[in-house]
Amino acid sequence: MLIRTHDNGFNHPLGSEITPQAAYQNRRQWLLSAAALGGAASWAGREAWAQTGTTRPGKLAALPGRTSSVAGATTVEKPTSYSDASSYNNYYEFGTDKSDPVATAKTLKPRPWTVAVEGLVNKPGNFDLDALLKLSPMEERIYRLRCVEGWSMVIPWVGYSLAELIKQVQPQGGAKYVEFVTLADNKQMPGLNANVLDWPYVEGLRMDEAMHPLTLLAFGMYGEVLPNQNGAPLRLVVPWKYGFKSGKSLVKIRFTDKEPRTAWNVAAPQEYGFYSNVNPQVSHPRWSQATERRIGEEGGLFAKRRQTQMFNGYEPQVGQLYAGMDLRKLF
Ligand code: MTE
Repeated sequence: MLIRTHDNGFNHPLGSEITPQAAYQNRRQWLLSAAALGGAASWAGREAWAQTGTTRPGKLAALPGRTSSVAGATTVEKPTSYSDASSYNNYYEFGTDKSDPVATAKTLKPRPWTVAVEGLVNKPGNFDLDALLKLSPMEERIYRLRCVEGWSMVIPWVGYSLAELIKQVQPQGGAKYVEFVTLADNKQMPGLNANVLDWPYVEGLRMDEAMHPLTLLAFGMYGEVLPNQNGAPLRLVVPWKYGFKSGKSLVKIRFTDKEPRTAWNVAAPQEYGFYSNVNPQVSHPRWSQATERRIGEEGGLFAKRRQTQMFNGYEPQVGQLYAGMDLRKLF
């Protein structure tokens, strides 16, 4: 983000509109395996994106989720194809080109994996990935993701509200913020050799933002576990904020009384604030935030741009969190 100039020069293939036989068979197999798992999922949301021609990709282990009942959690917009969502990525630990992570993130080892929970909580500890997978029922949430660079996607994520984990660890009264630290391992991540950011990649939320039911701890997408390039084995997804707030491959969650120093804010404070709420009225110094390009839409780079919505369209759910704040100053 810092070193790219514009969302340009990208010649992305359109998502396939057809369902090849193999994909159809994969989908059938998946339905059977999900049934075998006893998933009490409602298939409505899944059908919505399956009908777009985006079947379960069948590349990774199945991770079905029931359709979420959280308000705002399932948009009816057409989801981005899996191939676009998993090949046009920002994951600087694996390179700064959009096409780098899909090629280089094969070295990431998503298992075994532990997340340390520390700071101002009564029950700190190390959570094993398997324990986290079982902590709460998996839900499917179809969220818009808007990147500060001016593009957006619609992705069916699988996970549960971060609030479920937060409740378990019992934050103390003094905990006002949550810091999210992501993996920084030279052996697994070739991009760490570049001094793009001060590693590890750190993000943060205010406590009420972290507790908001839309804030998702995601373990999967498109009915499967997360591909490495999308942040395996678990990441954050905060749909009303610019994409960079959604840290990938989390290893530590720390509760604190001070606003965390986030990686992008440290790198360029005049460009990336702590809040980073999607706001079409407040331009980034180098990019207007008024419109966006939906990845995979017909016309590619020349497709008609969409109007960006306040809080990425989640204003009814999250607007009250920012009542009375000057969002030009606290961007
Ligand atoms: N998390 C880590 N650890 N490293 C990163 O470079 N990039 C962020 C965010 N999380 C990033 C990260 C940015 S800029 C965006 S837009 C989203 O991840 C992209 O997520 P996606 O590749 O699943 O679309």
